[in-house]
Amino acid sequence: MDTRPALDQGPLDAVDLADPLLHAHHDLGPLWRRLRDEAPVHWQPESDSRPGFWVISGHADVVSVLSDSASFTSERGNVLDTLLAGGDSAAGRMLAVTDGQPHKALRSALLKPFSPRSLDVVVESVRRGTRRLVEEAVERGEVDFAADVAAHIPLAAICDLLGVPPTDRQHIIELTSSALSTEDGLPDEEATWASRNGLLLYFSELAAARHDKPYDDVVSLLVTKEIDGRPLTHEEIVFNCYSIIMGGHETTRFSMVGGLQALMERPGQWRALKSGEVTVDSAVEEVLRWTSPALHSGRTATQDLFLGDQFVEEGDIVTTWLASANRDGRVFAEPDEFDLARTPNKHLTFAYGPHFCLGAFLARAELTALLESLRDLVAEARPTGPPTYVYSNFLSGLSSQPVSLTGEPAGSRAPLTSSAGGG
Ligand code: HEM
Repeated sequence: MDTRPALDQGPLDAVDLADPLLHAHHDLGPLWRRLRDEAPVHWQPESDSRPGFWVISGHADVVSVLSDSASFTSERGNVLDTLLAGGDSAAGRMLAVTDGQPHKALRSALLKPFSPRSLDVVVESVRRGTRRLVEEAVERGEVDFAADVAAHIPLAAICDLLGVPPTDRQHIIELTSSALSTEDGLPDEEATWASRNGLLLYFSELAAARHDKPYDDVVSLLVTKEIDGRPLTHEEIVFNCYSIIMGGHETTRFSMVGGLQALMERPGQWRALKSGEVTVDSAVEEVLRWTSPALHSGRTATQDLFLGDQFVEEGDIVTTWLASANRDGRVFAEPDEFDLARTPNKHLTFAYGPHFCLGAFLARAELTALLESLRDLVAEARPTGPPTYVYSNFLSGLSSQPVSLTGEPAGSRAPLTSSAGGG
C-alpha cells in the first residue's frame, strides 16, 4: 500500500508535474485517474521557471503519440528536464533522441547485441549473480534491498554488456545514481553535471582503449561498426554508451525494489509466486506494469494538430505519462490491483513505437532472475524500516528499502538450473 498522501483534490492547474518533490511525496494514482477522466490531454501551464507542456495520461493517446514520430519528434529531448531546458545536446547522435533514418541505422546496429541469442552469456551470468546476491542477503538476514541487492544486478549486466571491468563498477554506480536523481529532492545542478561528465569521460576513455584493442562487447562493436557507410564518430559512441547505462540501471533497479515491496504488502501474491500458481513470466510483466519506473516519455510536436479535442501547436512539448497509462481502466481490469496472474498485460513500461526500449529483453531477464531467486531461496520477506522515495520527475522508485529476509531451509531450496539446460 502506498502510504504517501494521495493527491486527489484541488484544481489540476495547481499541480506541477515537473516538480520532483510532488512525485516523491505523493501517491499520484488518484491524480492520474482524474486527468484520464477529466482532462486526458491537459495543458500544464507555464511557471516563472519553466515553459508549459502537454500532459497525456490515457493508454490510447499515449500509444498514438509514441507511434507517430512524424508528428512528434524526440530530437529536442525525450525527458521533461531536457525538453524544458530547450533541447538535448546529444540530439541526432544518441539513439533515444534521434529520429528517422539515422535512428533506424543506429538502432539496427545495436539490435544484435541486445537480441536474446547474443545476450545468452550475459543472462546466464545475471542468473548466477542474482542468486548469489539473494543468498548473501538471506545469510545476513537484514539488508537494504535497494542498495545491497537490486543496485548490483542491472549494473553488473550492463557492465558485462559494455565490457566495463569489475574494478570500475562501484564508481559507475555512484556516477549513474547522482546523474539521474537526488536523495533529498533539492536540485544540485553542479553535482548532476559533474556526474554526467564523469560518465561521458569514462566511456570516452573506454572507447579509446577498445579502438586500439577491440573485445567482444558493445563498446567494441560501436567502435568498429559502420552505419550508413561510415564509422560512428567518437561522440556517437560515447553518447550511446551513456544512454545504455542511464537507460538500463536505475529503471530496472526501481522495478526490482518496487516489485519486492508490492509482494511484501500482499501475502496472497507472494504465496502465489512461491507455490508456482502464477508463472514468473506473468509476474515479471505485472511488476513492470505496477512499478512503471520511467514515468514519462517526452516529445515535441513537429506540426499543428489536434490531440483529442485540444489544439497542439508546432513546437509544443508533449509528455506521455506511462505510469498513468499503465493504470488505465479502459485497458486493464482492476488497474489498481497488483495481480501477478494478469494476462494479457499491455503495459507501456517500455514505451511504444520506434523508440520502444532496446533493453526490454535484458530487463525482463534480470527481473526473472530476481523473482526466481526470491521464490526459491526466501521463505519470508518483510520491511524493517520505511522506504525512501527517489526525487525525480522522470524516474519513480525507492532508493532505500530496509528488509529482513528469512531463508528457505537448505534442503527445500530449488537448485539453479541453466536456462540453456546445460547445468
Ligand atoms: C528506451 C524504459 C531497461 C536501454 C526506453 C524507453 C523507455 C524505457 C520508456 C523509451 C524512451 C522514449 O520513448 O523516449 C525502460 C525501463 C527499463 C529499461 C522501465 C527497466 C525496467 C533498459 C535496459 C537497457 C535500456 C536494461 C540497456 C541495457 C534503452 C535504450 C533506449 C531505451 C538504449 C533507447 C531506444 C531507442 O530510442 O530506440 N527504455 N528501460 N533500457 N532503453 Fe530502456
